[in-house]
Amino acid sequence: MRIGLVGDGGREHAIAVALTYADSTVELFAYMHQPNPGIVACAKVIATGPLTDVHGVAKFFQKAKTDVILIGPETPLAAGLVDVLAAKGLAAVGPTARQARLESDKGYMRRLLRERVGRGYPDFLEASHLSEAAAFIRDHGNQVAVKPVGLTGGKGVRVLGTNLSSAEEALAYAQALMNRDGRVLLEERLIGEEFSLMAFSDGQHLVPMPLAQDFKYVYDGDLGGMTGGMGAYTCADGLLPFVMPAEFQTAWELLQDVIATIEADTQEPYRGVIYGQFMLTAKGPLIVECNVRFGDPEAINVLAVLDDSLGRLLPHWMDGTLSEVTFRPQATVSKYLVPPGYPESSREVFFQLDLSHLEEQGVHVRFASLRPTDGGYYTASSRTFALLALADSPDEASTRIEEAITALPLNGLHHRRDVGDAEVLAAKVRRMEEIRAVC
Ligand code: GLY
Repeated sequence: MRIGLVGDGGREHAIAVALTYADSTVELFAYMHQPNPGIVACAKVIATGPLTDVHGVAKFFQKAKTDVILIGPETPLAAGLVDVLAAKGLAAVGPTARQARLESDKGYMRRLLRERVGRGYPDFLEASHLSEAAAFIRDHGNQVAVKPVGLTGGKGVRVLGTNLSSAEEALAYAQALMNRDGRVLLEERLIGEEFSLMAFSDGQHLVPMPLAQDFKYVYDGDLGGMTGGMGAYTCADGLLPFVMPAEFQTAWELLQDVIATIEADTQEPYRGVIYGQFMLTAKGPLIVECNVRFGDPEAINVLAVLDDSLGRLLPHWMDGTLSEVTFRPQATVSKYLVPPGYPESSREVFFQLDLSHLEEQGVHVRFASLRPTDGGYYTASSRTFALLALADSPDEASTRIEEAITALPLNGLHHRRDVGDAEVLAAKVRRMEEIRAVC
C-alpha cells in the first residue's frame, strides 16, 4: 500500500513508525516542512514545502499515486487539505475544513457545545468589545482564562492567576487578541486535572485510544510557560489513576455527541482522529479544547502500544469498518527534550545521540525539530526530540528514560523529569479527591 504522510514533528515520526514497523507492504511518501530524519528513514520518497500549500501537497501525492494519506498537524486540515485532495480523487484520513473548525475556531466549538450538545463546557463569552470582556472578568471574580479563537500551537491560552497577574493584564491581552482576530474567548477558570481522550472515527464507529495526560508547562511541577507539551504518560489499563470509570464514561459520551453533531452539521462522515482535551473538575469532565488530529506528544505514547500496524488499520478506517482497535496492556512515558530557552527564546545547540545504545536500553527516539549535521544534530526553535519507554508502570518507564538521559551528552537541552513519576501521579489522585469532596 502506498501511504502519504503530512507533517514533520515527533507525532508524525511516531505515525511513520506505526505505519511501517513490521509491515513490509507499506511504502511511505512523506511531505514535510523541514526534513525529519526519523521520517526520512521510514520513507520511500520525501518532499518539502509549506504544509499549508494545499495544492503543492496534493501535487506531490498525485505524482506518488498514494492509496491513502494521513495528515498529522492541524494547520493543513484547517487550510482545507482534505477537501483539495478529495477534489483530485485522492483518499485521505482527516476531517474536512468545515469539520476542522472544531479546532481552528474555538468560538464555533464553544457554541456547538452550548447550543447543540448542551453540556460539557465552562461558562464562556466570545467578546468583541473590551467592556464585555471587563464585565465577564469582574463577574467571575478574576477567575478566567483568555484564549485566542484561532490556532496557536497550544501556546495562546493565558490564565488569570498563573500567567496573567491582574485583571488589567488580562484585559490588555484580550484587547490585543481582539485587535488581531476581531474577537476573543473568555472562559471561567477551571480547577482540576487535564486529560486527553483521543479516538479513531471512521464515519460509522468511534474507537477510543488509551487515556493520556500531557504535561504542558515547561518546568517540573507545572512551572514556567505553556508549551506544545513536554511529555505524556499512559497506563497499562488504558485509564488514568485520577479518572474514575464514571468520569471516563461521561467524557466518552460527550465526545460521541460532538462527533454526531459535527457530522449532522456538515452532512459529512467524520473520518480521522478526534482528540478531546478535558479538564476533570468537581462538576465532572469539561471540554477544554476539541482537536481534530492526534495529540503531540500523546500520539507518541498511544501508537507505541497499538497492537497492529497502523497500515493494516487504514483500509478499515477509510471504508467505515474500523469497529475495534486493540492496544497492548503496557504503560508508556514520552519526554520531549527542548532547546535551552524554549519556549520563549530557544538557542541553537549541537548534541549527539547514540540511537542503537538507546534502543538497547529500551528507550526509543522520536525526532521532531532539529537539523542533522556531521556526527550529531543542531536544535531548531521548537521541541527537539522525544524519548519513549514502555514498562509495567509509568514510573518504571520514566525512570528508564531518566537513566538514559543521564548518560547523554545533551549540551544544555532541557526536559521534565516528573512526567509519569509515581509521587506526582499519587499527588494528582489526592488532589482530585479533594476537589470532588468540595462538591
Ligand atoms: N498535546 C497538546 C496538543 O497536541 O495540542
